[in-house]
Amino acid sequence: MKVAVYPGSFDPITFGHIDIVKRALKVFDKLYIVISENMSKQSLFTPQERVLICEEVLSECLDKIELVVSNELTVKQAKSLGATHIVRGLRALTDFEYEFQMTGANRILDREIDTIFFMTDNKFSFLSSTTVKEIAHFKGDLSAFVPAYVLQKMNEKLH
Ligand code: PNS
Repeated sequence: MKVAVYPGSFDPITFGHIDIVKRALKVFDKLYIVISENMSKQSLFTPQERVLICEEVLSECLDKIELVVSNELTVKQAKSLGATHIVRGLRALTDFEYEFQMTGANRILDREIDTIFFMTDNKFSFLSSTTVKEIAHFKGDLSAFVPAYVLQKMNEKLH
């Protein structure tokens, strides 16, 4: 069985993340969505809230995915879950430097865990959770960026 982890902040999960999950599930039999703290970002939702939101919007894939909250290094978490690969989405050249550094560090930490990238679909290439939070803050229309359930949860939190 091919097992991978898809780590990220998912604060909140967007249509871009959902697209990566669905594409990764064509390659891997099981995908652990690992909700980790990114130490350089301030979060809107608690990790437990993010788990519930992800489970709701990914309900059609719950037979092949599992949500995990992690306070560990991603490679350690991957190892303990029996995963061989880390899945990440790559949007544009601006992502490259960050992903390059993270993949390099992860490879030094554990050479047996490899990272596999999915190029984000063109229609999501500009989309990030940070952009979503900013638009939400100014009460902009987010219907093209996140599922309705995420929108509802963001409104409950922010307004
Ligand atoms: O969605 P993000 O914020 O770009 O995800 C970044 C994340 C959570 C994948 C990264 O910060 C992470 O893996 N954090 C856990 C600690 C770790 O393993 N860091 C990578 C080694 S440098």
